[in-house]
Amino acid sequence: MFPAASLLITLLLALSIAASLIEVRNSPVTLPIARRLNTSNGPINLLQRDKARAAAIKGRSFSTLDRRTGSTPVTNDEAVSYIAAVSVGSPATTYNLIVDTGSSNTWVGATTAYAKTKTSVNTGQPVAVGYGSGNFSGTEYTDTVSLGSGLTITKQSIGVSSPSLASGFSGVDGILGLGPLDLTYGTLTNKPDATIPTVTQNLHSQGIISQIVVGISFEPTTSVTVTNGELTFGGTDATKYTGSIAYTPITTTSPASEYWGINESITYGSTTILSATAGIVDTGTTLIYIATDAFKRYQSATGSTLDEATGFLRITSSQYKTLKNLNFKIGSNTYVLTPNGQIWPRSLNTYVGGSSSAVYLIVNDIGTPSGEGLDFINGYAFLERFYSVYDTTNSRVGFATTKYTDATTN
Ligand SMILES: *[C@@H]1O[C@H](CO)[C@@H](O)[C@H](O)[C@H]1NC(C)=O
Ligand SMILES: *[C@@H]1O[C@H](CO)[C@@H](O)[C@H](O)[C@H]1NC(C)=O
Ligand SMILES: *[C@@H]1O[C@H](CO)[C@@H](O)[C@H](O)[C@H]1NC(C)=O
Repeated sequence: MFPAASLLITLLLALSIAASLIEVRNSPVTLPIARRLNTSNGPINLLQRDKARAAAIKGRSFSTLDRRTGSTPVTNDEAVSYIAAVSVGSPATTYNLIVDTGSSNTWVGATTAYAKTKTSVNTGQPVAVGYGSGNFSGTEYTDTVSLGSGLTITKQSIGVSSPSLASGFSGVDGILGLGPLDLTYGTLTNKPDATIPTVTQNLHSQGIISQIVVGISFEPTTSVTVTNGELTFGGTDATKYTGSIAYTPITTTSPASEYWGINESITYGSTTILSATAGIVDTGTTLIYIATDAFKRYQSATGSTLDEATGFLRITSSQYKTLKNLNFKIGSNTYVLTPNGQIWPRSLNTYVGGSSSAVYLIVNDIGTPSGEGLDFINGYAFLERFYSVYDTTNSRVGFATTKYTDATTN
C-alpha cells in the first residue's frame, strides 16, 4: 500500500471514531447562503407570512390565524428568503432553494422548470406539502443533487413541481429541507406511511459525511441582498463562531419535538418573560416569536407600543437607549440578545412599511398562549447572532456565540 493511501485510511478511521463533532475548515462541504428581501412588493407582509407559517407548524387551522390586519389576505409571496444554489441533474441545472430547518422535503420547479437529464428518474409518486405560507404539489423523482463542489448525492429523492403547482414561492425554485426525517412522513400522497430520506441523511448514507449534522452561520445584514450565510454539512466551522458550542437535547415536548425543538426560558433584564418551555429553532422564520402572554410581558417590560402600520412593537429612541438585554437560557447556557440585536435593521424600516426614523423590535406574538408545546420560534433574528448546529446523530441542537453576537449593525 502506498504511504499516502494508508495515511488516508488512518485519517478516515480517526474521523469515524472521533467522539466529538468534526471541525471543518475551508472544506468543500460548505455552501454559501444568500439572504434576499423581495422589494418589488412595496411594504412586505413579513409578519403575516411568519405567522401563517407558525400556525402551520403548530398544526392549527388557517381559520384561527391572527386577523389583526382585517381583510388583508395572508400574502404567500416569499418576503425574506435565505437561499442556497443547489445543482440537480447531469448536466446540472442550478436552482435557488430556500434553506429551511423547519421542513424536510427538498424540491424544485416553483420558478425555473425542472430540467430532466440522464440522471432523472421519475418514481411516479405524487408528493404534496403545505407550509402555511405556501404549498407545492408534484411528482417525486430521484436525481443527482450537488451542494457545491465535493458534495454530490446520487439518487436523492426530490419533489418536482411547477409554477402552477407551487404557491407562495415567487422568485425562488423550491426548498432545501434540513428538518428531521419524520417531517417527510405522509408527504407522498399514495404512500401515507412512507418517509423520504433527506439530503443530509443521504450525504451520510452515501459516506460523504460521517455524522448527520448541519452547522449554520448567518451574519446580521442591513442590505437587501447579501451572501452572508454558510451551511456546513457533516460538522461545524470553527471560523464562524467564538468560544465553544454548547448542546441541548431535542425537547420531549410535542409538537416542538417534531422539529428542531428545544427547551428554553427567556428573561428581559431580570424580568421573566417566558418560563422554561418548549419551542423551535427555525431558519424559515424571520423574527423571534413568543407565546401571547410572554409577548405581553415583553411589551410591558420594554414599554413598547404595537405599531399599526407594521405590526411590529415600536419604541422611542430614548427607550432604545435604556433597552435591556433579552436573555435566552438554553440548557446551562444563556444567550444574550443585546438591545441592538432586538431591533429591526433601521435601514430596512420602510421596507416593512415603517417609518425610517422609528425603532422596531424583532420580538413578536406567536398568536397562542404558552403551554401548547411550541411556545417560541427562534428565527433568523436569533440565528444571525448565534451559530447553530442541527445534530441528528446525537438528537441535539448546539449554539455558540459569534463575532456578530454583540454587533451594533442594526
Ligand atoms: C395551495 O395554496 C393555494 C393558495 O393559497 C390554495 O388555493 C390551494 O388550495 C393550496 N393547495 C393545497 C393542496 O393546499
Ligand atoms: C418578488 O415578488 C414578486 C411579486 O410577488 C414576484 O413576481 C417576483 O418574482 C419576486 N422576485 C423575487 C426576486 O423574488
Ligand atoms: C423539557 O421540558 C419538559 C417540560 O418541562 C420536560 O418534561 C423535559 O424533561 C425537558 N427536557 C427535555 C430534553 O425535553
